[in-house]
Amino acid sequence: MKILVLHSEVPADGPPEDQDTLIAAEAVRAALVRKGNTVSKAAFRADTLAALLNEQAPEMVFNLVEGVDGKGILASAAPRLLSQLGMAFSGVRAEAMDFTCDKPQTKAKLRAAGLATPDWSTPPDWTGLDERAFIVKAALEDGSIGLDDDCVVTGAAAIKARAEDCFRRFGGAWFAEEYVEGREFNLSLLGNLQSLHILPMAEMTFADWPTDKPRIVGYGAKWDEGSSGYRHTVRRFGVENEEPALAAKLKAACEGVWKLFDLTGFVRVDFRVRASQPSILEINPNPGIAPDAGFAAAAQEAGMTYDDLIEAIVKAAA
Ligand SMILES: Nc1ncnc2c1ncn2[C@@H]1O[C@H](COP(=O)(O)OP(=O)(O)O)[C@@H](O)[C@H]1O
Ligand SMILES: [Mg+2]
Repeated sequence: MKILVLHSEVPADGPPEDQDTLIAAEAVRAALVRKGNTVSKAAFRADTLAALLNEQAPEMVFNLVEGVDGKGILASAAPRLLSQLGMAFSGVRAEAMDFTCDKPQTKAKLRAAGLATPDWSTPPDWTGLDERAFIVKAALEDGSIGLDDDCVVTGAAAIKARAEDCFRRFGGAWFAEEYVEGREFNLSLLGNLQSLHILPMAEMTFADWPTDKPRIVGYGAKWDEGSSGYRHTVRRFGVENEEPALAAKLKAACEGVWKLFDLTGFVRVDFRVRASQPSILEINPNPGIAPDAGFAAAAQEAGMTYDDLIEAIVKAAA
């Protein structure tokens, strides 16, 4: 097949989460070439997309656009334009991407459908805050932006102050979610509107974690290889065999999510588990797909090579 790998436009001095897109784009290109495809690669720009497609004439686009002008909320411009131009593309559709990009909106839809998600509170009213600990996080961005050792706070005044502080530092919208002390699972899902394949379930463990540090996969743990959080968050597999009842609950939640949001392509759902009850933190459409990312690790656990995974994503789009 003739395939165009489309990625975000990333400034050379952009943050590590943006550089990751370029690493993924190159890895995907190489994998597709090894699978016998003719592949080109380009950065997405709304104003030149039509001309680019005309010039390259691909049969399909492998979409790795994670944001526009550094804003994740604008990423859906790529699938929206591609579908308007009648071009087949991999991954989530624009509507599902827009919806799931907004964490409070996603949580409201999950809760209305009876799928468990932790309690939350949004400005300006901040209703529902009580004596429980809350984590203050970005409503519209991912990549653990703003999640450091001080992001878990208690008390309405402290929560509001933290949200204001994050706004000053990062801009954007911030909200508070009940902090779920407990285990963390990341589930990698692959499929289309007809079928869903759940890859082996990954648990993120917090190994030898300092007692005074919140047990979260914060910004350092995700992006700074030199940080202690990075070294002490360790992925493990095996819940399906070891705890089948818990695995069944995680699976049922993923099936519910897949249908509820009309998901397609590759998606990762993040969970926390307290008292054996999984609760959905967020849905990541088109999550990081670099060879060292969680999605590729789950595929490998399933016995798929990286190249097989990339090919499966192409097939899911066809
Ligand atoms: N309500 C919560 N309770 C406990 N930990 C949380 C909660 N929300 C987020 N976290 C921690 O922060 C990490 C990042 O949060 P998440 O909602 O997945 O946003 P993103 O990955 O898009 O930045 C999670 O992987 C988890 O470790
Ligand atoms: Mg996450």
